[in-house]
Amino acid sequence: MESITLNVENVTGFIPESEIEKWQSATSGHLQHLIRRDGQGNDFLGWLNLPSSITDQHMEKIEASALKLRQSSDVVVVIGIGGSYLGARAVNDALSHSFSAMGSGQKNPRMIFAGHNIGEDYMHELLEMLEEKEYSLIVISKSGTTTEPAIAFRILRENLESRLGKEKARSRIIAITDQKKGALRQLADEEGYDSFVIPDDIGGRYSVLTPVGLVPLAACGFDIRSLVKGAAEMESRCLTDAAFSQNPATLYAAARNLLYRQGKKVEILVNYNPKLHYLAEWWKQLYGESEGKELKGIFPAAVDNSTDLHSLGQYIQEGERMLFETVLSVREPDHRLTIPGGEANLDNLNYLAGKRIDEVNKMAELGTTLAHVDGGVPNMKIELPKINAFFLGQLMYFFELACGVSGYLLGVNPFNQPGVEAYKKNMFALLEKPGFEEETRKIKNRG
Ligand code: PA5
Repeated sequence: MESITLNVENVTGFIPESEIEKWQSATSGHLQHLIRRDGQGNDFLGWLNLPSSITDQHMEKIEASALKLRQSSDVVVVIGIGGSYLGARAVNDALSHSFSAMGSGQKNPRMIFAGHNIGEDYMHELLEMLEEKEYSLIVISKSGTTTEPAIAFRILRENLESRLGKEKARSRIIAITDQKKGALRQLADEEGYDSFVIPDDIGGRYSVLTPVGLVPLAACGFDIRSLVKGAAEMESRCLTDAAFSQNPATLYAAARNLLYRQGKKVEILVNYNPKLHYLAEWWKQLYGESEGKELKGIFPAAVDNSTDLHSLGQYIQEGERMLFETVLSVREPDHRLTIPGGEANLDNLNYLAGKRIDEVNKMAELGTTLAHVDGGVPNMKIELPKINAFFLGQLMYFFELACGVSGYLLGVNPFNQPGVEAYKKNMFALLEKPGFEEETRKIKNRG
């Protein structure tokens, strides 16, 4: 079966292969902690066997609810932030026509997003755009109390209800939240929205294969069964007895931690296909929130090449040597396009005439990789045979599993995020939220 692959050849000049192998037993041991569920954060491992445990019945329920939105809507507004929106966005953007926003490509509803920022202009312009559209809402919040999506849902729900009336609006809203807790669960139950549960033991950044990712993707006509199948295939490959070097998740986790110990503190996820931009955003959250704690952690960054070779390329080539790269390489694009010849050859491009654009892209990728390795930037490569739902499922599960193992190698709990509360406390104090009176007094007395 075709599969994504990991190549660490361009790391071995920086850490000898024998060094990676030495880490084999520690790394495999951490994988076993995940499998036995006896490591840190073991109450948040619901994602580990999720792909293989999703039932047909569950998929049918998601597809039935999603179909109602598909049949009634030009646009599905997905309201959520962080782990409650990045997975759906990553897959949507990877699988959509590059100009779907202009109406090209699939005829299914377009997925757009709200509640992932607090931009007043963004919301105003979103409402303006929706005036001419039939739209539905999928509101996603595990806690059910996150400020950004709660504000967006309040506004969009009011807009939808005033347009369609409460009854009809109800049939255009799906809520995805905790089974019992939170304001959104209460509202969904009271209003009788179609609703789905985010399992207690799955954190936001590991939730793409729960209804958090699957419902919006199904509503916009994506092949969620292939996505889950790809993830299940990777689950079975990585959780079985695959030898260390054959297990991409443990190999990646070990290599990045060894590089980190040599002072490579920033990992750049590099793509050469702009459709993968949001996959990198999803990855940044997964690794940043999982590992950045206790004053440790690799900082996850990303570039879109060749675009960013003309901005950050200089730094990567010659700036501080604290970087390593992981390249997402797509073997075969969906379309073929060759460069035409020109009689006058004024642009001197005739040497490329007849070549595919992708051939030029691949040479940009190879040339850059070699230059960066020569310049002191270790490089790993993850190759996807092509961009489709199956390989994205493989890739996302691979990254999730590797992240769990990598966090354990680093010595942190990869499944909590205590640090995200600090800014919220200040924001609530500044906004004079009831219950934060003492914090309000203190913050207003500062500076
Ligand atoms: O990964 C996480 O836990 C976070 O990014 C959350 O997904 C994000 O803060 C949104 O939280 P909620 O789903 O509770 O609204």
